[in-house]
Amino acid sequence: MTDVNKLKTELTEIVAAANDLITLESARVQALGKKGKITALMKTLGGMDPEERKTTGAALNMLKDEIAELIATQERALKKQDLEQRLATETIDVSLPIRPESKGKIHPISHTMEELTAIFSSMGFSVAEGPDIEDDWHNFTALNFPPGHPAREMHDTFYLPDDPEEQGEAAKKLLRTHTSTVQIRAMQDKGAPIKIIVMGRTYRSDYDITHTPMFHQCEGLYIDKNVNMGHLKGCLMDFVRAYFEVDNLPVQFRPSFFPFTEPSAEMDIGCSRKDGGLKIGAGEDWLEILGCGMVHPNVIKNCGLDPDEYQGFAFGMGIERIAMLKYGIPDLRTFFESDVRWLDHYGFDPLDRPNRATGS
Ligand code: DAH
Repeated sequence: MTDVNKLKTELTEIVAAANDLITLESARVQALGKKGKITALMKTLGGMDPEERKTTGAALNMLKDEIAELIATQERALKKQDLEQRLATETIDVSLPIRPESKGKIHPISHTMEELTAIFSSMGFSVAEGPDIEDDWHNFTALNFPPGHPAREMHDTFYLPDDPEEQGEAAKKLLRTHTSTVQIRAMQDKGAPIKIIVMGRTYRSDYDITHTPMFHQCEGLYIDKNVNMGHLKGCLMDFVRAYFEVDNLPVQFRPSFFPFTEPSAEMDIGCSRKDGGLKIGAGEDWLEILGCGMVHPNVIKNCGLDPDEYQGFAFGMGIERIAMLKYGIPDLRTFFESDVRWLDHYGFDPLDRPNRATGS
């Protein structure tokens, strides 16, 4: 028993003397490890008579628990001390001016996405996301493009090899050609009512001054029990006026066709084209800005909702296009050339507010 008491004094001192976490860990190994002092004493139990073995065994087990507890307490104290030291030394002076040499700029796409988020969230839309790699069902069939429908051909789709782990339309993988896919995913996941915008990359095999194989879209979806075309028009009118920062910006809706909306429309905003320049606002001309419509009952049905109970509107637009129009960027391809001079010219300062017109 005296050995146990002696060991207790010795180990308590070792633990107490450990004044950093590394030393404490070696103290733990010394005391409790497989080759540690307590284990060594445990091994002598076999040579004792039964009575002594019983009391010494019990005492050793108690010692083990006591030392483990001591180590845990010491560890907590050391960690706390460590944190306090760091908090005291790692201070940041938030009143320091911004470093003048900071040259980073926000890309117009990111900036426009922030503007869209600010405007639509002030109207109660939340942001939803979906994958870039999609399947045929989400990109086409669920959106009421039946297999073989000619509208599929217009999408210049990039197809990927079939996924051997899936079957049918789910096995047919592709890069999404539009963000409308997320309408399907969001309605399946969250049901109705739902009010979302989606912003992200989309892909089509096309390349010229107004097309790049990868581009960005913003999609909107609002489904509830009493949504009508008037809500669609009001929402989009408010949006274009806030985004282009032109009060009373004239708009017109032209009938159009999309498989996933009925009726479908394209929205134009007023503009004037004089001396080769384009000015957004009241003028003699119109500029197409987005596609929209009332969500087709088949789409609502395909997402497991009852189209007799729920209806709503959707819209979709190219983010590069609306950024080009607002900021006077002439060539779409330059968005993705990573030319620092271009970014310096068209980019935004990191502390710019995303949108001033919404008052939000
Ligand atoms: N998905 C369409 C496209 O890529 C854009 C679009 C049009 C989306 C009408 C919509 C909509 O949600 O209602 O051309």
